[in-house]
Amino acid sequence: MNILLLGSGGREHTLAWKMNQSNLLKKLFIAPGNAGTLQAGTNVSLDILNFESVGIFCIENNIEMLIVGPEEPLVKGICDYFQSEERLKHIALIGPTKTGAQLEGSKDFSKQFMERYNIPTARYKSFTRDTVADGFQFLKSLQAPYVLKADGLAAGKGVIILENITEAQIALADMLEGKFGDASKTVVIEEYLHGIEMSAFVVTDGKSYKILPEAKDYKRIGDSDKGLNTGGMGAVSPVLFANDEFMKKLEDRVIRPTIKGLLNESIHYCGFIFFGIMNVKGDPYVIEYNARMGDPETEVAVPRIKNDLVEIFIAMAKGNLEKINIDIDKRTVTTVMMVSEGYPEAYEKGKEISGLECVENCIPFHAGTKLEDEKIVTNGGRVIAVSAFGKNIQEARNLSYQGVAVINYEGKYFRKDIGSDLMNLK
Ligand code: AMP
Ligand code: GLY
Repeated sequence: MNILLLGSGGREHTLAWKMNQSNLLKKLFIAPGNAGTLQAGTNVSLDILNFESVGIFCIENNIEMLIVGPEEPLVKGICDYFQSEERLKHIALIGPTKTGAQLEGSKDFSKQFMERYNIPTARYKSFTRDTVADGFQFLKSLQAPYVLKADGLAAGKGVIILENITEAQIALADMLEGKFGDASKTVVIEEYLHGIEMSAFVVTDGKSYKILPEAKDYKRIGDSDKGLNTGGMGAVSPVLFANDEFMKKLEDRVIRPTIKGLLNESIHYCGFIFFGIMNVKGDPYVIEYNARMGDPETEVAVPRIKNDLVEIFIAMAKGNLEKINIDIDKRTVTTVMMVSEGYPEAYEKGKEISGLECVENCIPFHAGTKLEDEKIVTNGGRVIAVSAFGKNIQEARNLSYQGVAVINYEGKYFRKDIGSDLMNLK
């Protein structure tokens, strides 16, 4: 099968690395890809939001399956575009249509969806410019901290959490006045949930679903969860508190009702669903849905899947997912994200990366890298996620950190405490 994978992060390198192990794969193209995906397939320089040019590439290269890594093309309707074009209709799609992607693309939609199907989530209300006064009142009815969310996609920056009510009211007004452009024309205000976060993932063909390995992501830039929010600085899978009892609650209260809800609303969903979960005293609550895999969670979840990933994708596209048994490696995988100094704010690109050839017993998944004049250079805030297997967290993280120690570039930064909180939880 000829496959085109869209995206250029650590998630896409991991998916490409895994698909490259399949006998069912003929040709793999990644658009736009990075210096890592080059080892698993052919990079193609395409604007992934220009659906027409993606379509033309698919026809010219006999692409039989399109896999969409990031959320933006999904929310903007790439799958709807492929389904509506006669010459593209035959291409299997891994990713939901625009309506399904609303689970991620609109917080207001996802909160209403959860309300309709009794899926546990924080109490909330949505406000627009016309109802800002009601928003101020609603804030008063809540206890600090106050959680404000831009309704639409805001590149991971649309959630503001504040301790002080006056600051929260100012933030609400700013958001409704366009702080995040159209994304914050509607703002969801919700109750703060106290607990430990984790990420759960499923693949679904719209009828049945399979649970993939769960993960814990480390979102803040600094050790001990200090400093600015990032896309994710590291991850661990499995998550020790997500034991059988917790996972059963999650499946009964969250996963199954979500799939049933989509079916009930005739939203055909063939793709990944990412559940951002808060464990509140042993009970799962949904913080958010995403219509894609997480990054860097993919770098720890996907290596633990023993199945042929292309076979899973084919079963999803054919509506046969029910027949697949997901076989999960019991070992732990950790990943440590190496970033550029300054990230998640301003940083420099183009720094030569050395030492990649010396890495042992771990897998460096590339994120912001590119090949330039035969050299691999930094090309983003998040540069390389170093994943490793171990019989426990300690062993895996030692190997990840050994890998991090031999890879170098000017301005290299990483968190030193990935997984350490989970070791203490035992
Ligand atoms: P989101 O983009 O919805 O994942 O939110 C970003 C981060 O804000 C989450 O990963 C949580 O750490 C935090 N967060 C969001 N909603 C809540 C909530 N209701 N209670 C506590 N923390 C939250
Ligand atoms: N690591 C969180 C995300 O992918 O949204």
